[in-house]
Amino acid sequence: MAKILLGFMGSGKTTVAKYLKGRVVDMDALIEEKIGMTISDFFAAKGEAAFRAIESETLEELLKLEGDTVISTGGGVVLSEKNRELLRQNRRNNVLLTTSFDVVYRRIQEDTHAQRPLFQTKSKEEFQDLFQRRMALYKDLAELVIHT
Ligand code: S3P
Repeated sequence: MAKILLGFMGSGKTTVAKYLKGRVVDMDALIEEKIGMTISDFFAAKGEAAFRAIESETLEELLKLEGDTVISTGGGVVLSEKNRELLRQNRRNNVLLTTSFDVVYRRIQEDTHAQRPLFQTKSKEEFQDLFQRRMALYKDLAELVIHT
């Protein structure tokens, strides 16, 4: 069964995944391969709903992988009830990374590598509101919670 890393943008999923041994799949990187462009460009061209559909389809595919795989998810994977149900079924193998809002905000600001459309288009207050709403969705989806 796959081990899944969950958490808000900037909580360290991609960084932690790089330290783990074995097969690691970065969902966002896989999605970018599928769509042939960056997630940021895809959001601009097709909108968030189209991205969420591909994200859900990718999660479902990855959960079917046999053997030991670590899957680093995108922070919004918990938005759909269907995804949350799939994640609940995998709860014993899920790790949630948590971080305070201030740290997340600073990390994302300093991250010159990943362009995050939801960060770019929101004020700090709106982004904090998103953070709080998301934290409620991650709750109870993972057996192990690590504060990064
Ligand atoms: C998103 C998080 C991003 C990426 C996309 C949307 C979100 O992944 O999937 O920009 O809605 O939280 P990271 O959590 O790896 O930044």
